[in-house]
Amino acid sequence: MAEEKVLDIENLTIRTQRGRTLVDGISLHLYKGEVLGVVGESGSGKTLTAKTILNLLPENLSWEADRFAVLGADYLTLGKKDTKALVGQKIGYVPQNTGSYLHPMIRIKDQIIDGYLRYTKNNRGEALERARELVKAVGIRDTERLLKSYPWQLSGGMRQRVNIAMALMNQPRLIVADEPTTALDSTIQMQVLDLLKTVNDLYETPVILVSHDLGLVKYYCERIVVMYAGQIMEAATVEQVFSNPKHPYTRALIKVIPSLNIKKGERLAEIPGQLNAVGTAGGGCAFKERCSFRQEACEYTIREKTVADNHYYRCNLDF
Ligand SMILES: Nc1ncnc2c1ncn2[C@@H]1O[C@H](COP(=O)(O)OP(=O)(O)OP(=O)(O)O)[C@@H](O)[C@H]1O
Ligand SMILES: [Mg+2]
Repeated sequence: MAEEKVLDIENLTIRTQRGRTLVDGISLHLYKGEVLGVVGESGSGKTLTAKTILNLLPENLSWEADRFAVLGADYLTLGKKDTKALVGQKIGYVPQNTGSYLHPMIRIKDQIIDGYLRYTKNNRGEALERARELVKAVGIRDTERLLKSYPWQLSGGMRQRVNIAMALMNQPRLIVADEPTTALDSTIQMQVLDLLKTVNDLYETPVILVSHDLGLVKYYCERIVVMYAGQIMEAATVEQVFSNPKHPYTRALIKVIPSLNIKKGERLAEIPGQLNAVGTAGGGCAFKERCSFRQEACEYTIREKTVADNHYYRCNLDF
């Protein structure tokens, strides 16, 4: 039997109303049980891609794709209302900006159980019991006090943990976690990621983990997608990416992973240059200005390749 495809996205493009391209023809596939890491520096289009899956793209943006199916539902034909219900029932979302996602004037306990009560037949008592368990599981000791709080009374790290607990309330069939642990110290970070991994192991819940941190992704994910300037530069298994990176950008990212042996105060290798606006490559490679392997052809053309075991990359060179 073919593996169950949880996400089947072909050629997704996201644009502003004025026609500026922000995400440029990306394809993403995710299978049941898999943890997929999406990496790339700030502005590369990770959050916008995640938000399209959540049906939460800002009003001033629009998307199109050749195929866009989530958990078997076709977003190209599904109405807004049905997409919203699918997301509410079956997808757990940990947003990047946890502050604006929670309603400031509603107590945590009411927010945490809201979606659960809407989409399950269980009662308030059961919902609160589940909320307590999950809040504990994300490392919060004083659960009662937390549940009674308002979001504005909590630190960024606490809010982030509330969001993670909330994302797990409905036993989601897909988890989309956008930089879920950035505001957390390293112990809690591991605890939270281990929790996501446990959920993934127990229920085969697929996870999309968006992160700047290739080190974390290496540890928690089976496959990696490397984004740059709204495009996918490389997509492969973790093993392939680390043992045989094909794209110069991926190579540069691997170099900047903080090494465990690095001495305190020592400067990390950095990738020189800045991220370009999407679409400025003029048919050539979006990374060319920063690439130390740049050739003449990279100015005006780019080759996409898929080599052994579905290892995709977008580069004129063959390493
Ligand atoms: N509502 C919007 N209107 C116009 N441009 C936007 C909008 N939202 C995002 N952008 C732009 O789209 C690009 C991609 O943004 P996105 O938030 O997806 O990046 P990201 O990869 O998640 O970055 P980060 O790592 O900083 O979270 C950026 O250049 C951003 O400025
Ligand atoms: Mg983001």
